[in-house]
Amino acid sequence: MARAAKHALFTLALLCASGGGVAQNTSGTSFSPAQIKQGAQLYASNCESCHGVRMQGPQWGIDLATFPRDKPERFVESVTNGTKAMPPWGDVLKPDDIKALWAYVVAGEPPR
Ligand code: HEC
Repeated sequence: MARAAKHALFTLALLCASGGGVAQNTSGTSFSPAQIKQGAQLYASNCESCHGVRMQGPQWGIDLATFPRDKPERFVESVTNGTKAMPPWGDVLKPDDIKALWAYVVAGEPPR
């Protein structure tokens, strides 16, 4: 194989590896694309009526795109047990579902 072609292939492989869709949050935890996708589906069926389609323009309730990224415990706690005007989800969603929702909130939409 010609050198130039080899180089092009190598660059392509690097691009694929870095753009592979495994997103990182500020604390360095990475989420798998499958987990983010699961979270997106759960979000669409349970959360978007109040928090907005794809977290854009919430009808009411808060803008989850601004939820602090370094507070996963608070996310799990609020979603499981509810907070003020927000209903609890602990009876509906399994802990893994809530983890997937966290992955979606942190990494599922492009930052605004
Ligand atoms: C019935 C409307 C409604 C639905 C449905 C809803 N929320 Fe909320 N949510 C709210 C409101 C209102 C607040 C603001 C609560 C307050 O007064 O602080 C909120 C706040 C939150 C917060 C912030 C809590 C904090 O600690 O600041 C998170 C996280 C959250 N919602 C996640 C979710 C997720 C995930 C779902 C789907 C499983 C969901 N919400 C579905 C109404 C809703």
